[in-house]
Order: sequence, then structure tokens, then C-alpha cells
Amino acid sequence: MADVAVVTGTSTGMGLHAAVELARKGLTVVATMRDTSRAGPVREAASAAGTELDVRALDVTDHQSARSVLAAIAADHGRVDVLVNNAGRGSVGTAEQLSMQDVRDQLEVNYLGPVALTQAVLPAMRAAGRGRILTVTSVGGAVGQPFADAYCGAKFAVEGFMQSLAVVAGQFGVWVSVIEPGAVASEFVANVARPGDPGPYAGLLAAYLARTQGAFAAAQSAQEAGAAIAAAATSPDYQFRWQTSGQAAAFVGLSLADLDGERVGGVTRTWIS
Ligand SMILES: NC(=O)c1ccc[n+]([C@@H]2O[C@H](COP(=O)([O-])OP(=O)(O)OC[C@H]3O[C@@H](n4cnc5c(N)ncnc54)[C@H](OP(=O)(O)O)[C@@H]3O)[C@@H](O)[C@H]2O)c1
Repeated sequence: MADVAVVTGTSTGMGLHAAVELARKGLTVVATMRDTSRAGPVREAASAAGTELDVRALDVTDHQSARSVLAAIAADHGRVDVLVNNAGRGSVGTAEQLSMQDVRDQLEVNYLGPVALTQAVLPAMRAAGRGRILTVTSVGGAVGQPFADAYCGAKFAVEGFMQSLAVVAGQFGVWVSVIEPGAVASEFVANVARPGDPGPYAGLLAAYLARTQGAFAAAQSAQEAGAAIAAAATSPDYQFRWQTSGQAAAFVGLSLADLDGERVGGVTRTWIS
């Protein structure tokens, strides 16, 4: 029986392509999104790739409903072998520009959502002695960047949760990983939350946005990033940390000397085994 994968945030971007690529690789894929009336593009991409998907509604910020959806998927397909926490949203703003609600919104979608879904699938994976939980974080999960305070804060948070869980879950055969894309051409920039008046930060913000526009002009395609996610999700070898491109790896390398996570995992695993 084919492995069953659940991917969040598949209406657009790399989640859409990751879902299709996983299906193309032969997995049974449940492509989830907030609003299934937006399922046309993922269904069409699946059909063009000669495969099909089970599309279901799932908002990662509605934890109770997300748990019910995951339970229904497990009941209908037998189990969940792979969870790809892909759904996410950006935010541009420095501390003084951000309301606490802006910060909470980032935590809801980029941190608490993946945490809740992970808690929902983990018991059955642990009992089965196998499973994979991959969370699409960002290079911004390892490197703080100007005007990305709330976004990087949330992505750092989810990386900390997953890195802590990874060594424990690994003892039960459950592989927990993060995937760090750099600039990827998707709906991400259009969907970024933009707080109000930058006031004294206007000049700095303009410089940052001009620089970012340049970086996105050379962005990795969502299809290539999605394929990198699917490759990580089906790799025969475990890594805690994956980057989707050489550019992303070089950028994460500014902050981390542990690009695949094995330097840290190699030490912390000895604490419990
Ligand atoms: N693009 C980049 O440069 C970049 C770089 C590093 C990391 N990332 C990360 O990569 C992931 C995918 O982003 P993308 O670039 O593919 O952007 P995207 O095209 O905007 O896709 C984001 C997806 O997340 C979904 N989503 C947002 N809030 C949700 C919620 N509450 N529940 C369920 N789904 C929700 C969106 O659905 P709706 O259509 O319903 O809004 C959309 O399908 C995100 O986690 C993002 O932070 C992106």
C-alpha cells in the first residue's frame, strides 16, 4: 500500500507543487487548503502530471477542526505516513510597526499550526514505528532579517520546536525535519502582511524592499522548491535540516555551521540513548 502524505497550503506555490510531485512519486496525497474552491490549479497540475489527489479543507490555525480532518484522513486512507507542514505567510515590519496581533498572527500560522498538526499525527506514527513530519520553515528560520521580526521570530520558534522533538521522535522511528527555502517565486510576496506607517523607518524599509525585489527577481521556481520538498519527504536518508537550493544553503550557512542538523543531533541524541 502506498504511503499516505498530507500537505498543507496547497492552493498555490511550493505546497501545490510538492503535493503533485509526491503523488507523481506514487504516494497517496491529501492536498489540503483553507478554501477548496481554490483547488483548480492543484487538480489541474496533478492531472497534467498524470496523477490525482484527495483535496480537503484544512485551516492550520483552527486546531480542533484540523485534528478532525487528520482523523478523517487516517480513517479513510488507513493512516498518515508523511505530514508536510507547508502553509505559511510572511510579514514585513520592524518591532515598532507591529501590533501584538500582527505577532500573534505570525505565530498562529507559522508556529502553532505546525505544532498542532504535529501533535495530531505523532501518536499513530510513534505507535507504528515510522512516519515523517516535515515543516517548511525558511532561511528566515535560521537567519534574522531586517523588517522580518515577526516572521523570523515565528520561523525560529518552529525550528526550535522541531529540532527539540526530532531527537526524541527519532527514537520511535519518526523522522522530524525542517525545510529552508530561500527566495521562491510564489504568491508569498503578494500575501505578505504589511503593517501601517513605517514613520522613521521609511528610508530603511524602502532600501530593504528594493533589495528584496532584486532577490526575488532571481527566485527559485515554486516547482523546483516543491520538488525539493518532495525529495526530502521521500529521501531514504534522514536529515533534520534541508535547504531547497544552493543559494538557500549558502545563506543559512551565514548563521549555522550545521546545515543538515547532524552536528547538533549527533550530540543531543546521545543524551537520551
Ligand atoms: N516564497 C518564498 O520566498 C518563501 C521562502 C521561504 C519560506 N517560505 C515558506 O514556504 C511556505 C509556502 O509558501 P509559498 O512561497 O508557496 O507561498 P504561497 O504561494 O503564498 O503559499 C502559501 C500557502 O499557505 C496557505 N495558507 C496560508 N495561511 C493558511 C492557513 N491558515 N491554513 C492553511 N493554509 C494557509 C495559503 O493558502 P491561501 O491560498 O488560502 O492563502 C497558500 O496555499 C510558507 O510556509 C512560507 O513561509 C516561502
